[in-house]
Amino acid sequence: MTPKSILFIADNWDADQYALLDSGDGHKLERFGSQSVIRPDPQAFWPPAHPVETWQADARFNAKTDDDDKGNWQLINPAAPTEWPMQWNGLKLSARRTPFRHLGLFQEHSIHWQFAQDKIRAAGRPINVLNLFGYTGMMSLACAQAGASVTHLDASPKSNGYGKDHQAMSGLEDRPIRWIADDAMKFTAREIRRGNSYDVIVLDPPKFGRGTKNETWRFEEDLPGLLANVRALLSDQPLFIILTAYAVRLSHIALAQALAGHLDGLGGTMEMGEMAIPHAHDDRLLPTAICARWIAD
Ligand SMILES: C[S@@+](CC[C@H](N)C(=O)[O-])C[C@H]1O[C@@H](n2cnc3c(N)ncnc32)[C@H](O)[C@@H]1O
Repeated sequence: MTPKSILFIADNWDADQYALLDSGDGHKLERFGSQSVIRPDPQAFWPPAHPVETWQADARFNAKTDDDDKGNWQLINPAAPTEWPMQWNGLKLSARRTPFRHLGLFQEHSIHWQFAQDKIRAAGRPINVLNLFGYTGMMSLACAQAGASVTHLDASPKSNGYGKDHQAMSGLEDRPIRWIADDAMKFTAREIRRGNSYDVIVLDPPKFGRGTKNETWRFEEDLPGLLANVRALLSDQPLFIILTAYAVRLSHIALAQALAGHLDGLGGTMEMGEMAIPHAHDDRLLPTAICARWIAD
């Protein structure tokens, strides 16, 4: 299976819902629905289209260090709401400024949400999805909206709560989504023992994380074991696997090969590459993560 290198560009947002307005000099200016924000981004070390000092925004995240998610939000517009509505493709959510620098969604994943929906709809059969490290739940909602049964897993019960709220806001209460708070490694091992299987597995593991009982997750150490579990959980008719990674010192080739190494005999296509966000007013791209995507024949 020779991997195909591609760019995964999240260019499927309505302009009034999300836009990357400018980036450069270590910062980015974005609009999430009604709210614009300035956040640090160490990768944006090119000149901005307009000087950062002239950027207009409702709030700004001041990081403690460049590589650290910790820091605090400074309100530039004192009337900026704490939560506000956004939507993607009919999925409704509440955006908010979190202490972890993000706005309650990972907008660059929209390219995968669309891919998952297209594949699930085209399959024309019941599809069972496992979304590991599912966090904000947008992938789970996208798959459920397309007709799949979804098991959403994250160590954080709080984030599962947001996901459930967004399920209700999106009018998808009747769709089968299991919201589970557990450790990814333990849960997948238990699912293998129970004999459960999935046609689609999506995983977006952090560089470092903790399970519900304080289990540690370290990307490079723990991913091989988790990928072995992922393989064991695939159904007889698997559809696709999406594996993404942020802030790791790995190439997308390494990521794709780590995944391919567990899929011997399955055939199919392996795609790999960088995920990026397009700028609204020029041709530049902002890189965000790396990705490997296996697709059945
Ligand atoms: C990078 S975020 C995933 C973002 C997600 N793809 C989205 O679009 O919202 C990583 C998530 O992994 C969860 N996590 C960290 N360690 C975990 C573990 N051992 N088991 C399960 N979830 C874990 C965190 O709670 C966090 O929500």
